[in-house]
Amino acid sequence: VTLGALPPLITVAPPGPRSRALARRLRAAEAPGINTVPADPTAEAGIVWSEAAGANVVDVDGNRYVDLTSGFGAAAIGHRHPSVVVALRDQSDRLVHGLGDVSAHDLRPALAERLAQLAPFAAAQVFFAVTGAEAVEIALKTAFLATRRTEILAFTPSYHGLTFGALAATTRPAFREPFAAHLDSHVHHLPYGAETEQISALLRGGQFACILVEPIVGREGVLVPPAGWLQRLGIACHETGTLVIADEVFTGFGRTGAIFVSAAEGLVPDLLCCGKALGGGMPIAAVLGTRQLMAVWNTAGEALHTSTFVAHPLSCAAALAALEVLTDPAVLARVARIGRALFDRLSRWPTRFPTVKFVRGRGMLWGVELDSAAAAHTLATTARSRGVLVLAGGATGRVLQIVPPLTIAEPILDVALDVLEGALEPGSGSSASSGDAADLSSQLQ
Ligand SMILES: Cc1ncc(COP(=O)(O)O)c(C=O)c1O
Repeated sequence: VTLGALPPLITVAPPGPRSRALARRLRAAEAPGINTVPADPTAEAGIVWSEAAGANVVDVDGNRYVDLTSGFGAAAIGHRHPSVVVALRDQSDRLVHGLGDVSAHDLRPALAERLAQLAPFAAAQVFFAVTGAEAVEIALKTAFLATRRTEILAFTPSYHGLTFGALAATTRPAFREPFAAHLDSHVHHLPYGAETEQISALLRGGQFACILVEPIVGREGVLVPPAGWLQRLGIACHETGTLVIADEVFTGFGRTGAIFVSAAEGLVPDLLCCGKALGGGMPIAAVLGTRQLMAVWNTAGEALHTSTFVAHPLSCAAALAALEVLTDPAVLARVARIGRALFDRLSRWPTRFPTVKFVRGRGMLWGVELDSAAAAHTLATTARSRGVLVLAGGATGRVLQIVPPLTIAEPILDVALDVLEGALEPGSGSSASSGDAADLSSQLQ
């Protein structure tokens, strides 16, 4: 067994001396907050990655981890998947950078065609982006151009990215408040899972271009909506001429066992944002929309939306290779099967471990809600010290996200879950402090 499917191996307590030394350099040279180095010099530094393959990450001190973050979901087919590496090598021998919206490169049509085929509606076209947040911006712009309306309905909690357009829809106060004066006041929020009558009434009373919805809330706590809610949402939108934008940046490409979960749940979006997993670890995102909607971009003069690295050749090469894996029916069936096993195991946690309040998820996207942010932070730190990488998220930081590579070897996933269970045992360093006030995430099972 080679790197990719190996169990954890911690030889130096993380963060080890090399990680700490690099952290010190980063602290001096890079703006605080954006990297893994806390701005507070007394706070503990993060680990610094040096190598990764499959489900394994190795840090600069030689510690080996099992990655239950999939690198924010982007390494859905594992880190450095062999076909992605080959595609990158081949492409870098020919063309590394193109001329974006002025001159395309030869892989771009194939990727656009492939993505259009995957769209959950007919006659689809693709608008490429570099990041998930940019895909959200493009979808919102498309909705404004197409409807000539001004308002947006988004849901609390949600995470759509941190650029201004996306941030106006993103709900976490810590992200919004410093920039509140600059956020689009046309964005309305209702609770995720709100009664459809309430949604319909709001839509009927306004000039809504679109709703923007995560079909399963990811980063803000892994919330699965009530059965039938997404479908009813679609009906409420269609009755009022409001476009539906499904933000599948996190859920897209098999994370939940379906290529796109919105369509699987009966919500056929007008526009669909995707990213993360698409690039097999390279930066690329996209908006899928019908040909009819995308026609709004057919304007004279320069492209109304573009960026220097749009549809970057290396990212397109990686995406074509990644999609081969992500759309393999055997991989999707595997996600569904492992998802059932995860459900069986994780659903016992609230009765086994006093700090675990709720467990939610689908496929290979799970959230374990603990009784406080401190407990989630401690659990993530304890897990890291035993060689498992997990992130704490959720609106109040209490939800541990379990997001393994879809291709992770099952014995390694089991070992990683053993580590989490060990860290959850009372007295293991992850015991809870007093609970936060219950939030919406507690109510949505
Ligand atoms: C649902 C969703 N939308 C948008 C984004 C933003 O993507 P990016 O970080 O690539 O800008 C994220 C990132 O986590 C996400 O989860």
